[in-house]
Amino acid sequence: MEDYLDWVYMGVMSVFVGGAMKKFLASHISAAPTAVAWLGVTLVVQILWSYSVPAVLGLALLCLVCCLYAARMDPVLPLSAEGKAVFITGCDTGFGKAAARRLDAQGFEVFATVLDLFGEGARDLRKTCSPRLTLLQLDITQPQQVHQALLDTKAKLGLKGLWGLVNNAGVCVNFGDAELSLMSNYRGCMEVNFFGTLNVTKAFLPLLRQSKGRIVTMSSPAGEQPFPCLAAYGASKAALNLFINTLRHELDPWGVKVSTILPSSYKTGQPSNLEYWECQYKSLIHNLSPDLLEEYGEEYIQETKDLFQRHTQTASEDLSPVIHAISEALLSPQPQLRYYAGPGVRFMYFIYSFFPMSVSDKFLQRLFVQKKVTPHALRKENGLTHNNNNNNNINNHVERIEKK
Ligand SMILES: *[C@@H]1O[C@H](CO)[C@@H](O)[C@H](O)[C@H]1NC(C)=O
Repeated sequence: MEDYLDWVYMGVMSVFVGGAMKKFLASHISAAPTAVAWLGVTLVVQILWSYSVPAVLGLALLCLVCCLYAARMDPVLPLSAEGKAVFITGCDTGFGKAAARRLDAQGFEVFATVLDLFGEGARDLRKTCSPRLTLLQLDITQPQQVHQALLDTKAKLGLKGLWGLVNNAGVCVNFGDAELSLMSNYRGCMEVNFFGTLNVTKAFLPLLRQSKGRIVTMSSPAGEQPFPCLAAYGASKAALNLFINTLRHELDPWGVKVSTILPSSYKTGQPSNLEYWECQYKSLIHNLSPDLLEEYGEEYIQETKDLFQRHTQTASEDLSPVIHAISEALLSPQPQLRYYAGPGVRFMYFIYSFFPMSVSDKFLQRLFVQKKVTPHALRKENGLTHNNNNNNNINNHVERIEKK
């Protein structure tokens, strides 16, 4: 009987204490610390119990924890979108387009920027959204256009402030191993994902400070974890993350809240297109130095392309977790600093945060592009080493290989 009560007590305590711990510890980090908090709390309860906590103290503890837990469960009413204006970049396709549509339906006054005012994306938005929505042409790498978009937005807003900036526009000009990626890939990613977003954010900050508004930025787990073959893209998102995180605490006194969205892989924009990777592949083969092409081998690069294409096919099509996160970051009275949106992202961060690098590297390879083909030069070398081990007459073999 006593034993049975022990377990009930432990169970109840760990549920409540764990819930409270989640609120304070884990909400802004990831799912991982939640699990750790629960385990830790169960342990603490066990220890307390073994010292036989006086019943009164136990009860008091339970009450306290219940209160904390209840405070957490208290549904926080979202703010009203009515009369709030948001500016979203990159609305031609993908997250930007879906977010523009959703935020418009919620009652926001949306300023949606597109690369092409006469493209399919812009046409869809015009057709499906309310007259509140304003479409603006903007390539965020062109400071002149950023300036113009700011003027147009200000003119339309009049005295009204801007509530939110959604930094969505981004590119993945990236293909293959870091050594193989062209300088133009690195610069292309930086130009849009970092410098473009930086310029837009700086331009709109005065408006956002005025309204004590929100900045929501689309980042990527690839900006924090070393995904194979995504060095150029990842480095640009890493730079963006650091900039945004710095802004977050600098803007705190101004009352501007800053959130980052970390989506898993989704079918959005060009990279979901098989031909896109075909083009990237051809361009890489064409621009690579003959030495590198020889050492890595064409089969190796071709495999990378196949893996990218396959990965693209398995990416999620339901953008709603991301769109939901954007909306929450704009409307929650206490938005989270980071939103992990989509299948598997939390698990990925769990592995990354709590396992050795060697394990998380393996995990990322398995998850993303797991290469089977060995670079050409390594295959030759391995063949040579193998022969050496089996035969003392090294010169003989070297000679044979050189003759080939
Ligand atoms: C955006 O970039 C351009 C060119 O570098 C610069 O002249 C402009 O001042 C920038 N905008 C802001 C708001 O800093």
